[in-house]
Amino acid sequence: MSKLCIQGGIHLKGDVLISGAKNAAVAILPATILVNDVTVIENLPNINDVAILNEVIQSLGAVTEFLDSHTLKIDASTIYKCSAIEPEVGELRASYYLIGALLGRFKYAEVAMPGGCDFGGRPIDQHIKGFKALGAEVEIVDNIIRVHAKELVGTRIYLDVVSVGATINILLAAVLAQGTTVIENAAKEPHVVDVANFLNKMGAKITGAGTHLIRIKGVERLGGGRYSTVPDQIEAGTYMIAAAITGGDVCVRNIIPEHMESLSSKLREMGVQVLEGDDFLQVVAQRKITATNVKTLPYPGFPTDLQPQMAALLAVSEGVSTMVESVFDNRFQYIEELGNIGINIKVDGNKATIEGVNTLKGAKLSATDLRAGAAMVLVGLRALGETTIDNVRYIDRGYEEIEKKLTALGAKIYRIE
Ligand code: EPZ
Repeated sequence: MSKLCIQGGIHLKGDVLISGAKNAAVAILPATILVNDVTVIENLPNINDVAILNEVIQSLGAVTEFLDSHTLKIDASTIYKCSAIEPEVGELRASYYLIGALLGRFKYAEVAMPGGCDFGGRPIDQHIKGFKALGAEVEIVDNIIRVHAKELVGTRIYLDVVSVGATINILLAAVLAQGTTVIENAAKEPHVVDVANFLNKMGAKITGAGTHLIRIKGVERLGGGRYSTVPDQIEAGTYMIAAAITGGDVCVRNIIPEHMESLSSKLREMGVQVLEGDDFLQVVAQRKITATNVKTLPYPGFPTDLQPQMAALLAVSEGVSTMVESVFDNRFQYIEELGNIGINIKVDGNKATIEGVNTLKGAKLSATDLRAGAAMVLVGLRALGETTIDNVRYIDRGYEEIEKKLTALGAKIYRIE
């Protein structure tokens, strides 16, 4: 079990290169199952979730090979199995994309029910609603979900809640279906658009990705090809907040600034300078940072995956801020743990009231999930003295070489195995 050790109080300075988007990669890798040919996926983040999905896709019979640490070649023409029920499959929430992809190509799938970060219920009723609407039978027995269909026929599907996973999973199940499928109230996240762009490059006919209405015209088959994933909006946001919380001056490179708009606007509101280039944002926090109010929303609103990191920044800003979490039922569990470092946050239902404090003192913290773990790194970078964070495996799921990237920015951080 490894730990991160941080000596806080350093103003971060320099450049950080953002990796490919985790939430695009964990959908595009299962999506390669739909392609009865060879695909090469570039700009993959070098993180545990990608490694696990590669092993699962191999276990189905695909032949895969890492051409380098960010490029994976997948020959899915040799897939002979539609069953992924090993325990490690259940650990990964994104394993639910295997259902849509296997159903879409083979009309059958049995997959261990998804696990992943647990903040409140993580139902998949909207995924199931979509599969059934396309003509599939669905049953869940002993934590295994089985879906099968004689044929998949396009139809209109209205999502009762804006869901990234359900939007992508229905895309996967519909691309090879007969006729046209329309997804209404679809999620618009950059990684949803990235999956649609990948599928279209392989021959799918998807229009409207990035809007609330996505139209998928079923095609006979998908051909192979190369595709490079979109930069990670959440990793980028985490480093932007790292610059702000340490009073630093950091250039966050290899990003799409438009994806960061909600965070850039909030940082500017707080007195942080955010200067925009074509594929970078320069974050300069030399003045006092003042409180503001944040509400998480589906894209293009403020991302729920930056909620813990932003709460950490608000906790050291001058004044009283509020954070409302409107996407998940219970995504403030980490607040109690942050109390150990001197954060003053009171939670009432889905609203947190954050009283800014001036100094934090290093503490021993335990990551409770991926983004809360990132927030703990951020408060450790700010706190005086030493902060240790265990359960680093959560952080490794979504952040490539976090201590290497932070060290390059001047942080005093190292890993103890
Ligand atoms: C994806 O999870 C991301 N995970 C999450 O990122 C992210 O927080 C979330 O989207 C929202 O942006 C991956 O992409 C692998 P949702 P997902 O379906 O698809 C409810 C991270 O840190 N809902 O958009 O599971 C759900 O309970 C992770 O990278 C239903 O009610 O999220 C939630 O309240 C954490 N029924 C809301 O919708 C369903 O069938 C949004 O969930 C599906 C979802």
